[in-house]
Amino acid sequence: ARIVEHTLHVRNLTVNRLCNRQVITAVNGSFPGPRIRVREGDILIVHVHNKSPYDLTIHWHGIFQKLSAWADGPSMVTQCPIRSGNKYAYKFKIVKQEGTLWWHAHASVLRATVYGALIIRPRAHNSYPFPKPYREVPILLGEWWNANIIDIQNEALALGGGPNVSDAFTINGWPGDLYPCSGHQMYKLKVEQGKTYLLRIINAALNNQLFYKIANHKMTVVAVDASYTNPYVTNVVAIAPGQTVDVLLTADQPIGSYYMAARAYASAVGLPFDNTTTRGVIVYDGAPSSTKPLMPVLPAFNDTPTAHKFYTNLTSLVGGPHWDPVPLKVDHKMFVTIGLALEVCPSSTTCQGPNGTKLSASMNNVSFVPPTGLSMLQAFYFNVGGVYTTDFPAKPPIEFDYTNLAINNNLPMLFAPKGTKVTKLKFNSTVEMVLQNTAINGVENHPMHLHGFDFYVMAQGFGNYNPATDTNQFNLFDPQMRNTIAVPVGGWAVIRFLANNPGVWSMHCHLDAHLSIGLDTAFVVENGPTPATTLPPPPADLPQC
Ligand code: C2O
Repeated sequence: ARIVEHTLHVRNLTVNRLCNRQVITAVNGSFPGPRIRVREGDILIVHVHNKSPYDLTIHWHGIFQKLSAWADGPSMVTQCPIRSGNKYAYKFKIVKQEGTLWWHAHASVLRATVYGALIIRPRAHNSYPFPKPYREVPILLGEWWNANIIDIQNEALALGGGPNVSDAFTINGWPGDLYPCSGHQMYKLKVEQGKTYLLRIINAALNNQLFYKIANHKMTVVAVDASYTNPYVTNVVAIAPGQTVDVLLTADQPIGSYYMAARAYASAVGLPFDNTTTRGVIVYDGAPSSTKPLMPVLPAFNDTPTAHKFYTNLTSLVGGPHWDPVPLKVDHKMFVTIGLALEVCPSSTTCQGPNGTKLSASMNNVSFVPPTGLSMLQAFYFNVGGVYTTDFPAKPPIEFDYTNLAINNNLPMLFAPKGTKVTKLKFNSTVEMVLQNTAINGVENHPMHLHGFDFYVMAQGFGNYNPATDTNQFNLFDPQMRNTIAVPVGGWAVIRFLANNPGVWSMHCHLDAHLSIGLDTAFVVENGPTPATTLPPPPADLPQC
C-alpha cells in the first residue's frame, strides 16, 4: 500500500476576524487546518505535535480504523490526551470507504478551530460512480466566536447554562461580507461556465445544523459521510455537525456572480441561536467585476419540513463501490432515549439552567462521564477493571410518552445519574438501535455520531417510535449509510450496524455543547477468533495519562 505521511503542528495563531484580533488554536498556521488527501487502500501516518497550551487529541471523523482503534482519537476513550509539548503518530489504513471525511480535535471544545478536510479518492485506476468532475472543492462550514472558546465552555460548564451562541458562521474560515469588517474576508470560488465541480461540504460547526444554498444553481448529491448515494437533485442542503455532503455543481447559468450562503437550521424552539448568515461567492470566468452577485433565498430557521425532506430522501448507491447489503438478522436490539437532562445546582453557585438547575444530557437516563487515569481502550486491552462498566441499559428505565415530557415535569428521567456505562458486543454481531429524541420536551435535533462504523438508516419519523407499525417503513434495500444522523426533533430514527471491528467506539451527540455534558456512550466490541480480527497492541508512543 502507498504510505501518505503528514505532520500537524498544533499551536496558537493570531487571526483577525469580525473587527477583532483573536488568538486561536490552529494547525500548521492555517485556519481551517491543512487538507489531507489519500486514496482508498493507502496507509496514512499523521505526526501530531502539540505545541498548544492545551491537552488535546485528533479524531479522524468517519474513518473505520479497522484494527487500529488506537488511532481513533476521542480523549479518554481510545487514548489519553497528548499533553502540551508532546506528540503522537496516528497510523491507520483506509479501507472500504471513499468520499469526504474530516479530522478535528476531540478534547474539550478545541475542534472549534482545530479541523480540516480528509478526502479519500478511489484507488489509482478506479473511478467515481459519477461523471468525473472538472475540479474538486472542499467547503468547510464552521462557527466563530469573538472570544477564547475554552473560556466560553468553562463558563457554561461551571454555571450549567448553554454556551454563548457564536458570533458568525464561516465558509472555509471566512465569515463573508454580511458581518462587520468582513467585506474582504469572503470565500471566493472561480468557475468556468459549462464545467462541473465536486463540492465536498463539511459541517464543522460546533452546535448548529445548517442550510446551505447557492443562488440559481441546483446541486446533485452523490455521497454523504463518505458513502455513495443515488444522485439526488436539490436546491438546498441540510447538514448537521459531523456530516458531510458531496454534490456536483454545474456552472450552467449565465456568466455572472452567485452567492453561496449558509445559516442555522434551528430546530430548538425558543432557545437562543446564532441567526447570522455566512456567504461566499462563485464568480464565473469573464464576469465583469462590477456585477452584483445574486443571493439565494435560504429556508426559514425552523423549516423542519425542508430539512426532513433532505435528510430522508437520500438513498445508497446499491452495487456501488464498497456497498454491502443491509444485515437482515439482528443480534442486539436497543431502544435509546437521547436528550437533555438536569443536574442539581451546587448550593454555592447560581446556576443558569432551567429553574436554577444545571443542564445535563443523557442516553437512556445515563449521563456519560469519561474516566480519568486510563483510557477505556487501554482498560479493554489490558483487562483493567473499574474504568467503565458494561451495564449500559438496552432500554430506558421507565416507559412513558416521550413526546409529552414538559421540562417542568418532575420525572426521574430528568435527573440522569452519571456513569461510564458501555454496551459490550460480540465480534460480528449486528446492532439495531432506535434513537428516540425526546428526553426533555424534544427541543432540538441531536446529530448522533458513531465512531468506527457506518450505520444503515432504516427509518426516521416524528412522535413516539412504534415497533408495531414503524418497522414497515424500514428501508431494507438501499438505506443511506452515515456516521452521523440528525435524529429529528420530537422524533426518532432507527439504525443498524455490523460490529466487525474490535475496540472501544464512542457514540455521542455531535453538538459539542451536549457531548460535554454527557450525551455520550460507547460500544466495546470484543476481539474475533483469529489474529486478523484481534486488536493489535498499542503503539509505543501512545500518550499516557
Ligand atoms: Cu466528529 Cu466523536 O466526533
